Amino acid sequence: MRLLGIETSCDETAAAIVEDGIKILSNEIASQVDIHARYGGIVPEVASRQHTLSIIPIVSSAMKKAKTTWSEIDAIAVTMGPGLAGSLLTGVNTAKALSFAHCLPLIGVNHLEGHIYANWLNGTLPEFPLICLIVSGGHSDLVLMRGHGNYTMLGRTRDDAAGEAFDKAARVLGLGYPGGPAMEKAAMNGKNVIPLPRAWLKGTNDFSFSGIKTALLRLAEDGKITNPADGAASFQTAVVEVLVSKTIDAAQEYGVKQIILCGGVAANKTLRQTLLTKSPLPVIIPPMILCTDNAAMIAACGYYRFQAGKTDDLSMDVVPNLKLT
Ligand code: KG4
Ligand code: ZN
Repeated sequence: MRLLGIETSCDETAAAIVEDGIKILSNEIASQVDIHARYGGIVPEVASRQHTLSIIPIVSSAMKKAKTTWSEIDAIAVTMGPGLAGSLLTGVNTAKALSFAHCLPLIGVNHLEGHIYANWLNGTLPEFPLICLIVSGGHSDLVLMRGHGNYTMLGRTRDDAAGEAFDKAARVLGLGYPGGPAMEKAAMNGKNVIPLPRAWLKGTNDFSFSGIKTALLRLAEDGKITNPADGAASFQTAVVEVLVSKTIDAAQEYGVKQIILCGGVAANKTLRQTLLTKSPLPVIIPPMILCTDNAAMIAACGYYRFQAGKTDDLSMDVVPNLKLT
């Protein structure tokens, strides 16, 4: 079964063809990072306009790279939320038009569920029950998964998401945009020598990253961070320490078989390596390109929804604050 996946929730216009929810035939991404870099962050209106320019060429390119014709496509999966309303609309309306024109089933996918299903594109299929740590620009969620589409939210961030914290810290340290990768790069040349607080929120599976961000800002304002690389290394160490430790604790508490990691921050090598080294349980992490926003993960997730009979009709709308339920 071949699915076309479409993802336009934020600033990447992406389309992919995935077979049976596990095999990527193509995975095309048009990044807008250079366009938004000059503003130091994503400008929603600019993102929407750019999606409308890129979406048809990106879908065509995904079809071409997968050497696939429309008669070989079985369904179309598209991100319907959460995300920027204008950005989501481009993907959803394109998917609706293609579904109508080619008489194909339409499947609305939650972007976060898509991130989770990037782990099914890894060669080794995850085993239930498992704990999933989703760390992206807008979310830091600990989720218990007992089966396909079966989610229990164990904890979430009470303020900033991990990716958001990396982005804000990069701004404080003058490391540029996009912040997460810039922090990781700078941290490679720095040392963990700046004392920063960790919010453990004991007795809960929740996270909090605003305190550490503010602590970094105060130290920078007081001129106590002379080398931004040390600031980046210390910040990265603190965030990774909390994420890894709380994920392992939750996995042990719920007696799961595996841990899976996903979302843009999962591209961070220190996070990947620390979780792999410290976890007593098997850990699955998608390859870097499948951690940040892409459409292969949306097609993979769409496949499992389709198997469960979950399709949508043309009345489907975007839901910018869609929750994982
Ligand atoms: O999942 P994603 O691509 O988009 C959202 O759904 O939000 O995640 C983007 C977030 C950004 O905050 C970005 O700075 C962060 O992931 N990120 C990283 C790295 N690569 C991306 N954070 C830390 N280290 C990285 N290497
Ligand atoms: Zn994302």
